[in-house]
Amino acid sequence: MSLPPPREVAIQVSGLNHHFGKGEARKQVLFDNNLVVRRGEIVIMTGPSGSGKTTLLTLIGTLRAIQEGSIRINGQELAGLPPPAQVLMRRDIGFIFQAHNLLNALSARQNVRMAVELTATPRGDYDRVADAMLDAVGLSDRAAYKPRNLSGGQRQRVAIARALVNRPRLVLADEPTAALDKDSGANVVHLLRELANNHGTTVMIVTHDSRIISVADRIVNMVDGQIVSDVRIKETMVICAILRKCSVFKEMSPSDLTDIAQKMTEEHFAENEDIVRAGDTGDKFYVIARGTTNIIIESAGTTRAVAKLGEGDFFGEVALLRDQPRNATVTCREPVVVYSLSKENFLAAMKSHKTFDDQMSNMLFTRGG
Ligand SMILES: Nc1ncnc2c1ncn2[C@@H]1O[C@H](COP(=O)(O)OP(=O)(O)OP(=O)(O)O)[C@@H](O)[C@H]1O
Ligand SMILES: [Mg+2]
Repeated sequence: MSLPPPREVAIQVSGLNHHFGKGEARKQVLFDNNLVVRRGEIVIMTGPSGSGKTTLLTLIGTLRAIQEGSIRINGQELAGLPPPAQVLMRRDIGFIFQAHNLLNALSARQNVRMAVELTATPRGDYDRVADAMLDAVGLSDRAAYKPRNLSGGQRQRVAIARALVNRPRLVLADEPTAALDKDSGANVVHLLRELANNHGTTVMIVTHDSRIISVADRIVNMVDGQIVSDVRIKETMVICAILRKCSVFKEMSPSDLTDIAQKMTEEHFAENEDIVRAGDTGDKFYVIARGTTNIIIESAGTTRAVAKLGEGDFFGEVALLRDQPRNATVTCREPVVVYSLSKENFLAAMKSHKTFDDQMSNMLFTRGG
């Protein structure tokens, strides 16, 4: 398994707060939320009822004005964005919300077609494009039906077809499969995955549907108005695969490895850049994911490279374990990607994993200082 190159940032939420109500009734519902979603990622948001999921989704979708903090969509700041620019922004977002707002006077085909008409699609192709999308959600035999003659799940699928027909850059979905049976739900999930993979569509889904979790790249958990955990599923698997190559992690159970992987942060360094410098206070432990580095030691006025490290090698543990300054400089021979673990998390992992602790002690013997 290899590490995918980092994609551009599609959604960036920073320091986001939100209040509802006025005067004495004013109540804060979102508290200092931070989130970065990259292009083509599928992010699932879960959390208890009333935790703020829909509020966050509507703020990202420009359906609500930002009060405090910032949201950037494809680099564009939403706070203070004038209404005409908001309208343009929304054209590139596919909304799948609980109240689906289908037009009752129009057929399923006409509802989907309305979205197609906003694009540069030639007029003669409108129906063909709308029908292909209805077919993709399993409704080709219901194209001529009006919403009142469709079931709740069928109406939801028309709304999904309408949201996805123009292949928007961003899809925001609030419980999109709640009213769907197993097959229709799987269909929708497949469609979203296909859009993300083939068109770089970024997808945020609020759901409690465990069937959807299999397509997600990340799961964000919201509690009491705050994102409390953000699990990168694939990246965690990639980090685990790299950690497993390190002697110290080899013996760990998958769940212990996953715990550690989830606490690691990806960092990028340029050629010739120092990742750690001799004499600095040690605050992190590093595992190399990509590229090679030199370990450089200075003695008697001369510096020399004493070792070369590559993918799956680790460094930085000595200073953490001994609470001493770094004893060597680690310099990049080329662009390098590392996963780092804070001192606090590193020491906690040591405490809870006996074999890890033993092996680290052995490492310290063999590495000397
Ligand atoms: N328009 C509003 N006016 C006042 N309070 C609101 C409004 N909309 C939501 N709230 C409150 O904000 C909080 C977050 O609501 P939100 O709808 O974002 O929760 P949610 O996580 O989507 O919940 P659910 O899973 O039940 O859909 C709740 O306490 C809710 O009562
Ligand atoms: Mg909600």
